[in-house]
Amino acid sequence: MADRPRVFVARRIPAAGLDRVLEACDATVWPDELPPPRDELLRAAEGCDGVLTLLTDRVDDEFLDRAGPGLRVVSNYAVGFDNIDIPACTRRGIPVGNTPGVLTETTADLAFALMMAAARRLPEGDRYVRGGQWKTWGPMTLLGPDVHGSTLGIVGFGRIGQAMARRARGFGMEILYHDVVELPASVSEPLGATYVPLDELYARSDFISLHVNLTPETRHLISTDALGKMKATATVVNTSRGPVVDQKALYEALRDAVIWSAALDVTDPEPMPLSDPLLSLDNCLVVPHIASASRPTRGKMAEMAAANLLAGVRGERLPTPVNPEVYERA
Ligand code: DGY
Repeated sequence: MADRPRVFVARRIPAAGLDRVLEACDATVWPDELPPPRDELLRAAEGCDGVLTLLTDRVDDEFLDRAGPGLRVVSNYAVGFDNIDIPACTRRGIPVGNTPGVLTETTADLAFALMMAAARRLPEGDRYVRGGQWKTWGPMTLLGPDVHGSTLGIVGFGRIGQAMARRARGFGMEILYHDVVELPASVSEPLGATYVPLDELYARSDFISLHVNLTPETRHLISTDALGKMKATATVVNTSRGPVVDQKALYEALRDAVIWSAALDVTDPEPMPLSDPLLSLDNCLVVPHIASASRPTRGKMAEMAAANLLAGVRGERLPTPVNPEVYERA
């Protein structure tokens, strides 16, 4: 038994992945619904061969120092990895794995659902019924914009952005996109998507859906300045990372009718405190970072995170490494 790799799994994940880890490793699994507090996380990482982390667990130099020189892999149970200091892992030759691909469609489903819900005011409608305000059919009750035939601006045209475009096509939407580079026509044309500069996307879109990674360049991309370039009828949908939106600026823009509404799956911080002014606005819909939360998808993410973890502790190449450059120097 002494040769079973020692691993820490920072939360209970679906059995599709967890069972494989438990079979192959001497595993400690954090049992609570809430993430391990920092000191517990650091203690748990000590002496591990591998760790399976979530987006709530910060992996930085301090963490890597505490884990020690035996750490062979960090497997993140997410496609995003902004909780991990990738250069710090790479410097130490530690591969980091993520879960790309398997959550693309599920995340785009939620982004589209948020767009629909904000446009057609579903949370407000539900509150209206439950609050006893529904007295009759009203010609002017809870009016909103059409989704079909409107213009969708997609910021970040990777896997999830493109999946959003596929959905929008079915609704007859005009699709604009912006990314750091214009994609080849072989990608954008079948999706009916047109590359435009960011300011043009802001100015022309009825709905703006964010699908960028969180980087120093995208932090507070949606600023007072950006919001000021949008239509007064625009809706902003964020399923990327909370800090991509400057929430103070968003609050002011929604309060002052600079834009019409917003729908957020991600916030800064998470969880969003109940005192956050955005929660006082009817035109802001917030859900608790659930874009990938379908049973099948969370199962596939668990399988993939387990596969990365097990490959790493065995010294094999990870199926989906974020920093493949660690293999180049070997
Ligand atoms: C991710 O994977 O990065 C999502 O935010 C959570 O599934």
